[in-house]
Amino acid sequence: MRPSAVTPLLEARALVKRFAPARPFGGAAQRVAAVDGVDLVIARGEAVGLVGPSGSGKTTLARLLARLIEPDSGDLLLDGRSLLGRTPAAFARAPERRRVQMSFQDPADSLAPHLAAGEAIADPLRALAPRASAAERRARAIRAAERAGLGLDLLDRRPHQLSDGQKARVGLARAMAPEPDLLILDEPTAALDAMTAAGLLRTLGALKRESGLALLLVSHDADAVRLVCDRTATMTRGRLAPA
Ligand SMILES: Nc1ncnc2c1ncn2[C@@H]1O[C@H](COP(=O)(O)OP(=O)(O)OP(=O)(O)O)[C@@H](O)[C@H]1O
Ligand SMILES: [Mg+2]
Repeated sequence: MRPSAVTPLLEARALVKRFAPARPFGGAAQRVAAVDGVDLVIARGEAVGLVGPSGSGKTTLARLLARLIEPDSGDLLLDGRSLLGRTPAAFARAPERRRVQMSFQDPADSLAPHLAAGEAIADPLRALAPRASAAERRARAIRAAERAGLGLDLLDRRPHQLSDGQKARVGLARAMAPEPDLLILDEPTAALDAMTAAGLLRTLGALKRESGLALLLVSHDADAVRLVCDRTATMTRGRLAPA
C-alpha cells in the first residue's frame, strides 16, 4: 500500500491548551486546560463529528487543529509531518496553511460588515493563493459559492442584506475557496431554524460525497452530526472520547 493511503490526513497527538482564567478579584490563579491531552486522527475524505457540552473545549480544539492558536504542548501532523516545526509567522506563509480551513461559530461576527459576500469569499485567497490574479480569485470565489449552494445573485450583498442561512453559506464558501483538504465547521447550524439547518447539512453531505473533502463538524446537535458524519467524538472537560 502507498504510504499516503495509510497516513492520516491530520493527526493531533496529546494536544494541550491552557488559558489564564479571568481574575476579577486578583490573586493567584491556575491556568485552566481548555484542551487537555487530545489525540485525534482524521483520514482523507472522512467526516468526523465533534460534539459535547458548552465550554468543553470544542472551539479551542478546532482552532488548534487549524493552527489558528498555538498549543502549550503536543503535536499536530499533516500527512505525517509536524506543522509545529515552523514558527506561527512562517506557517502563515507556508503552502500547508491552505490545506486546513475553518468556518467560524457566529458567521455574522466573522464577516466584515463592509465587504460584499463575493469579496468576503475571495479575500483569504490574497494570502493563501498569492499568485492568483484578481480575476482568478473572483473565479474561485464564484466556484466556491456554487459549491456552497449560495445564489450568485447574492455575491454583491453585504452581511446585513443576507439571511442567517445565506450568511452561513458565505462562511462555508469562504472556507472552501482556498480548496482545503480538511474543512472545519464550528457550529454551522447553530443560528439557523430547523429547515435551513437541514438544507445546509444536505449541502455538506453532498460536498463530502462529491469532492472527497474531509470534514470536522463541531456541533451541539448529535442528530445533525450523524446525518453527515462517518463517526462522532465527544468532548468533555477538555478530553475526547469516541462515542
Ligand atoms: N481566549 C480564551 N481565553 C480564556 N479562556 C478561554 C478562551 N477561549 C476559550 N476559553 C475557555 O476555554 C473553555 C473551552 O471553551 P470553548 O470555546 O473551546 O468551548 P466550546 O466547547 O466550543 O463551547 P460552546 O459549545 O459554548 O461553543 C471555556 O472554559 C472557555 O471559557
Ligand atoms: Mg464553541
